[in-house]
Amino acid sequence: LNKLYSTNNLERRELIKLLSSIDNKHKKILFEYADIVRKKIYGKKVFLRGIIEFSNYCKNSCMYCGLYASNKIINRYRMSKFEIMECCKKGYEMGYRTFVLQSGEDPYYTDEMLKSTISSIKHAFPDAAITLSIGERTKLSFNMLFNAGADRYLLRHEAAEKNLYEKLHPHMSHDNRINCLKILKDIGYQVGAGFIVGLPNQSLEDIVEDLMFLKNLNPHMVGIGPFISHPQTPLKNSPNGSVDMTIICLSIIRLLLPHVLLPATTALRCLDAHSWERSLKAGANVIMTNLTPQEQRKKYDIYKGKGNTADNANTLTVEVKDLIKNAGYEVDMGRGDHISISKLS
Ligand code: 5AD
Repeated sequence: LNKLYSTNNLERRELIKLLSSIDNKHKKILFEYADIVRKKIYGKKVFLRGIIEFSNYCKNSCMYCGLYASNKIINRYRMSKFEIMECCKKGYEMGYRTFVLQSGEDPYYTDEMLKSTISSIKHAFPDAAITLSIGERTKLSFNMLFNAGADRYLLRHEAAEKNLYEKLHPHMSHDNRINCLKILKDIGYQVGAGFIVGLPNQSLEDIVEDLMFLKNLNPHMVGIGPFISHPQTPLKNSPNGSVDMTIICLSIIRLLLPHVLLPATTALRCLDAHSWERSLKAGANVIMTNLTPQEQRKKYDIYKGKGNTADNANTLTVEVKDLIKNAGYEVDMGRGDHISISKLS
């Protein structure tokens, strides 16, 4: 732990040893170190983002995800440019300055449609950042969306170990996914990668691969959440991932990548009401609040319990702000860029 704290690096065998032998006493030290490092870089600020889940159509078949293509039970929806703009408007009025546009991989939205939505949002809200989270696309498409005004792109690598990735993602290519992340970085996006903790057949060594992959990629953002089984997927009988292990991974990532933007993820809160507060105290410095209208939100059913909240965006925002303050941190509704970017401007 002291080596990780002072050098921001560990070798593979050291990470394996840390993950396999960590006890409560050392967990406490790890979380404290992560909190110190986060405060050194970003202070007590927690950045709020508004997420708009604008389509639950998906052409892929990720075996853990409720939106997977052949799920015939789910009710599908798509939001129009007008509906997306309305969500941004409401979010802007609440103070949000980052909009995360997320969807399944839905080819219905052409580059032209997305460009038009992005540039209209930028025109209406010039001081807001746009984050896309819409899956793998071509280099040309990534370029066009960047030129239209998108600032950031989230594309979790999901699993760095190739065999594990390929078992869970039929007809998808691990190489292409990693290549997309590299292209996004080269174009100039602030890029987010990340993985799922507790996937069926995932070993500690696999998690160490994920941590080392992220250290090497050096992304601006990292999203890590526990696996939550979804009753309409092939993995419906697999046990959920561990909240504790997820928070341990968050704090290790904070120490490996001190400047990273690190959300306390939605899946964590789904499994444990206290986990957001615990994550903030263990290195996390971002929370994403849901701006999707309730009607659609309940259909964006990636994992069990995901769309269950009956609260509207206003109530959620108040709740989250209270949670942040009660945990001893400060709410920041600004764009919340990565520190390497905000220093430039
Ligand atoms: N459990 C946890 N996380 C999941 N995701 C998708 N399905 C699940 C699940 N069953 C995550 C993926 C994806 C993100 C939007 O949600 O990592 O990138």
